[in-house]
Amino acid sequence: MSTRKTAVITGANKGLGREIARRLGQKEYTVWLGCRDTERGDKAAAGLRAEGIDAHALQLDVTSDASVKEAALTFGKISPRLDVLVNNAGIFTGEWGPPSQTRLDDMRAIYEVNTFGPVRVTQAFLPFLVKSGQGRIVMMSSSLGSISNQLDTTSEDYGVNLLAYNSSKSALNMITVLFAKELAAHGIKVNAANPGYTATDLNQHQGRRTVAEGAEIAVRLATLGQGGPTAGFFHDGHASGPGSQHNW
Ligand SMILES: NC(=O)c1ccc[n+]([C@@H]2O[C@H](COP(=O)([O-])OP(=O)(O)OC[C@H]3O[C@@H](n4cnc5c(N)ncnc54)[C@H](OP(=O)(O)O)[C@@H]3O)[C@@H](O)[C@H]2O)c1
Repeated sequence: MSTRKTAVITGANKGLGREIARRLGQKEYTVWLGCRDTERGDKAAAGLRAEGIDAHALQLDVTSDASVKEAALTFGKISPRLDVLVNNAGIFTGEWGPPSQTRLDDMRAIYEVNTFGPVRVTQAFLPFLVKSGQGRIVMMSSSLGSISNQLDTTSEDYGVNLLAYNSSKSALNMITVLFAKELAAHGIKVNAANPGYTATDLNQHQGRRTVAEGAEIAVRLATLGQGGPTAGFFHDGHASGPGSQHNW
């Protein structure tokens, strides 16, 4: 049986997810690219394999119970344990007005991917993470979900007053803390990563950071040692929550 560590990354056919998969693959992890579209997933996995990475596509739509369950079954037939889960899949769409005009249907659609998706995938893959004995879960959050930033008139996030996206990530931050508290007993660390404003399809490549820069914090949190933090929110060297005093 392979002694390589394993990682599942959702939304990994492009953008930050693919870069996180690439970086973990370069660290000798076997990476499973969770992708809702099989063709896009196969293409991304083939691209990484061409770079020498042990990459596999895994059909996985984070909004679908059936798809996530099937993905966990498929994964479990090949690997008994999972060392890293990066809940990266996310959308930022359909919401351009102020909170008073946000359509509930748009809000539900965003929550399905950004908030319920990570819960659904974490629950489905948890048995494999427990078997790792040192599982790491990374939730891809955003500074836009920070309540302090939204109240800070000097923050560049202050003017981005988007009800659905911002609150979907605030909820994800709380979900991170609650899972971290429960899963500490299994040696699992759960942290939220803020990649910063990164040039991807999500923002029509307006972001200032490269995917290499944006992926860095998620990779660090995915590969934390035993003494690393849990239940924190991290952006590069900056942190809030229990991890903020941590030297790592
Ligand atoms: N870019 C930024 O500035 C920024 C800043 C803060 C946080 N983030 C967060 O970082 C994460 C990655 O964003 P990104 O910038 O890399 O965006 P991206 O390039 O648009 O990639 C998003 C990924 O999520 C996938 N996805 C969407 N809906 C899905 C579903 N239902 N099931 C499975 N996968 C799904 C997409 O697949 P398809 O190709 O099939 O659509 C794609 O692979 C998101 O959670 C985002 O909120 C990004």
